[in-house]
Amino acid sequence: RSVFRNKDFITLQEWSVEEIDTLLDVSFDLKRKFALEIDTPYLNNKVAMLMFFEESTRTRNSMEAGLAQLGGHANFLDTSTMQISHGEVAKDTAVILGSYGHGIACRNCFWGEGNAYLRDMAAHANVPIMNLQCDLYHPMQALADLMTIKEKKEKTKNLNVSIIWAYATSHKKPISVPLSQSLLFPRYGMNVTLAYPEGFEMPDWVIEQARENAEKNGGTFKITHDMDEAYTNADIVIPKNWGSWVSDPKDKLGSKLLEENKDWKCTEEKMALAKEDAMYMHALPADRGNEVEDSVIDGPQSIVYEEAENRLHTAKAVMALTMGGRG
Ligand code: CP
Repeated sequence: RSVFRNKDFITLQEWSVEEIDTLLDVSFDLKRKFALEIDTPYLNNKVAMLMFFEESTRTRNSMEAGLAQLGGHANFLDTSTMQISHGEVAKDTAVILGSYGHGIACRNCFWGEGNAYLRDMAAHANVPIMNLQCDLYHPMQALADLMTIKEKKEKTKNLNVSIIWAYATSHKKPISVPLSQSLLFPRYGMNVTLAYPEGFEMPDWVIEQARENAEKNGGTFKITHDMDEAYTNADIVIPKNWGSWVSDPKDKLGSKLLEENKDWKCTEEKMALAKEDAMYMHALPADRGNEVEDSVIDGPQSIVYEEAENRLHTAKAVMALTMGGRG
């Protein structure tokens, strides 16, 4: 039987489909109860430590609001104000924070370090470690995306989902969202197309794992560098480019890549290649204008706000099961 209490939530790849189904069931139940204003005190007086190495709007607030709604307390920790900035190691931080509460959640996206940091904490903490995004994975986002797809489409099997992203390890940026989606969606029988310009390859192990996940679960996984091909006949499109890099004044590369790849943008014209009832998804924040036209993100095919809203319900499900649940 599945034991959820104290189970780390670092990547959904380490959760079985049955366990993910339970997470989804609980998410839908919590959503329904939230709408009906039914109390859900599943984590009464429990405390989660939320460590953030980076900024966040959705992740931080869905966790904080979610834990309050479950009867507990979220302790927000800006890591630049912690002794981590003086070199305190993951083990010491994890053991001590774990002794004060019932779960530790962490966002650490430093390239090549974020996942290692989480794994180090998980090796030593006696409470569940929840990944709020690292350099490799963003399981909270992928779970909310799956919930949103299940809500909007009758079935996930044979759904054509195109992840049209342009991030790459070669540029030392987190690839956590497209990577997590590439691994998760084929496990639900979807036909996943990962599209990116040449030179923006996913690591080989991701491709191999995604293909294996597809083979085992009746989905497919393919790669294309042709954006039009990715849009054509898609049920769901999830496009992104380098827009968010541009907002970082230290990052000159984003502007250069945007200039070189002007076509790598979601437009009404591209959306017209997809199925008539195709949906547009984006984890947000979106760089309006550079990566998507306003008429698409604000248009009838966009489900970005529902997707973001579901972050609340899935975050609550993860906390309720790993910090509470049956031992
Ligand atoms: N999608 C997402 O993780 O949003 P935030 O960076 O605002 O948390």
